[in-house]
Amino acid sequence: MKLIAVPRLPIEDLLAPGEKPDAGLIDGVRRLSRLFTIDRDKLGLDYLSDPALRLAYLLYFAPVNLAKCLSVLAELPPLPARPLRVLDLGSGPGVGALAMFHYLSSEGRKPPGGTELVLVDRNREILAEAKSLWSNLASMVPGFEVPGLHIALLDLERPGPRAPWKQQTFDLILMVNSLNELFRSARDPIARRAKLLEQLLESLALDGTLVVIEPALRQTTRELHGVRDRLVTQGKATVYSPCLHERSCPALLHPDDWCHEERPWSPTAMIEAIDRAVGFIKDSLKFSYLVLRKDGRTIADRGQNIYRVVSERMATKGEQRVWLCNEMGRQLVGRLEKERSEDNAAFDRWERGAIVRLAEIDRRGSVGRIRPSATADVIRPVGESQSESLVRLQR
Ligand SMILES: C[S@@+](CC[C@H](N)C(=O)[O-])C[C@H]1O[C@@H](n2cnc3c(N)ncnc32)[C@H](O)[C@@H]1O
Repeated sequence: MKLIAVPRLPIEDLLAPGEKPDAGLIDGVRRLSRLFTIDRDKLGLDYLSDPALRLAYLLYFAPVNLAKCLSVLAELPPLPARPLRVLDLGSGPGVGALAMFHYLSSEGRKPPGGTELVLVDRNREILAEAKSLWSNLASMVPGFEVPGLHIALLDLERPGPRAPWKQQTFDLILMVNSLNELFRSARDPIARRAKLLEQLLESLALDGTLVVIEPALRQTTRELHGVRDRLVTQGKATVYSPCLHERSCPALLHPDDWCHEERPWSPTAMIEAIDRAVGFIKDSLKFSYLVLRKDGRTIADRGQNIYRVVSERMATKGEQRVWLCNEMGRQLVGRLEKERSEDNAAFDRWERGAIVRLAEIDRRGSVGRIRPSATADVIRPVGESQSESLVRLQR
């Protein structure tokens, strides 16, 4: 399996200087990880005010989230060639903004002067960390004009009329692992989150992008699917990725289904050391996400024969199967080993998240079958960046 090119991040040196994890850090990572997963109901509002949890966040969770953010930024269309306005909501230490810094300062995507980033969070202490991280950036890429940073201490559940998105438009709006923390005690959290995103979409430039990244947990992911359904069925936006349609999310039809990413990566030494100590295995970047646009742009062409692979490959006796999703819904398809042919050989490269084409499915049984005569392709391999796909299309 191809490793996703998450480049080495100089910014990680800021977040996680090469010290060894001590017992306090390991305990903090363990506690925070429980609060983000099995003890979610105990996650307080200001958990990042606890110094041990904040340190754990900075040294472990933030670099991982930064890599997730970069892998999504890489698949977006090129950003407009004008001074950019970027909004990072529930920014924590500014993970979305740091990912933007890395994205803009690498691969010659230098933005025109005057680019501005606005971070919003309710936690004063983590915003102070964001400020100090940002002030160290200038030295990392000599000659790069570091975008201006504005910080707003704000409760996203009660933003009031002075919220940044009510004052100006934005080219890129990022919500990384924060949407699920909002309106948790509301009667209908999904409706409230959708309402907030609706407001954000109003402030999004016509060629702008709204990116939501959420943890790869069934509950938070299904909630994100619910928010997506409200927004796209009301025509507030269209999906750039991951979905290849604007119909209701078919994963919501069955309570066990949910759709997430698992992108292979190479963890940094610090993450590996913490994983070893805590007993975690972070061999892939797991997250769910939603990228919305207002101009109808999509990550790939769509059609009845074009699908996204939404599961891992499942091996049964003499057969491999995957779940596919497109405007026709979710469907399980398999190819028998004995029916492998030159035409359907590309099926061997179908991984979770890949966009694929399949000329025909034999639907006579409960599992759709890829017969030897069916042509299979990979249209967009998992994790391919926009620049890689341009190069491939020009070949
Ligand atoms: C899991 S952290 C994510 C931080 C960062 N975006 C990342 O991906 O690493 C969630 C952040 O959302 C913030 N947050 C939660 N509820 C909020 C609210 N009602 N208003 C503003 N920020 C909030 C928290 O303070 C925290 O910094």
